[in-house]
Amino acid sequence: MSSTQPIGVFDSGYGGLTVLKEIVSKLPKYDFIYLGDNARAPYGTRSFETVYHYTLQCVLWFFKMGCPLVVLACNTASAKALRTIQQKDLPKIDPDKRVLGVIRPTTERVGMLTQTGRVGILATSGTVQSGSYPIEIKKFFPDIKVYQQASPMWVPLVENNEQDGPGADYFVKKYIDLLVAQADDIDTILLACTHYPLLKNKIAQYVLPGVKIISQGEIVANSLADYLLRHPEIESRCSKSSQRTFFTTDSTEDFDHHAGIFYGQGLQSKHLVLS
Ligand code: DGL
Repeated sequence: MSSTQPIGVFDSGYGGLTVLKEIVSKLPKYDFIYLGDNARAPYGTRSFETVYHYTLQCVLWFFKMGCPLVVLACNTASAKALRTIQQKDLPKIDPDKRVLGVIRPTTERVGMLTQTGRVGILATSGTVQSGSYPIEIKKFFPDIKVYQQASPMWVPLVENNEQDGPGADYFVKKYIDLLVAQADDIDTILLACTHYPLLKNKIAQYVLPGVKIISQGEIVANSLADYLLRHPEIESRCSKSSQRTFFTTDSTEDFDHHAGIFYGQGLQSKHLVLS
């Protein structure tokens, strides 16, 4: 095996492609392997144990592919599996590998954007239940108040390409109203699920003018670039020939058909059977 290998980017399905798109734009020379565990998505409604088990299995596959670094571009996996993988599994499996998530880089940034000190989090039920965002934001910005709203219908809407239809209006308004009912001076709303950027235009129609709606892709891309600068021992093990390879655990036909909406351009995936 070559001494340099691609960076792994993982999501439960398509959503992580919105993050990969920004990462590739920021770090075009690097090679990336993307895995969408579409066959077992959604993760957002599953238990801690299940999300941890699925995520670990996928991380082990990335390591088998040689990836020195894996980014969990999925909030639910970052919320429910990352800490255990970093603290319990990595030291035993391979202490030289790294696994990063999307929650920490986002929370570091989001507190700098609010003027009122009231931040809204829109996420899957799993991410909301984990309490990861309020806990992490409190570490950096103890004075900021965080309000969460689970938006369980948004992932199915986006997965089924209904993000511009009337059903999306109904469910976007519903969850925004529930969030704003908790505090009407929220001025910064974080889309804490990788699927939600596809609903951003619709979300903007139902919030007050001036409210900032933040997607994570660019934040995560900047944070990864910064991480690679600060960690030359990992960076030097990442291959750089601008190659992107896509794997899905479900139908490649469906993946290739849907993925363009998330990634912004067509792609061809390979099928992966996780054993
Ligand atoms: N990509 C996941 C996230 O960012 C949501 C999709 C799912 O529920 O599997 O939380």
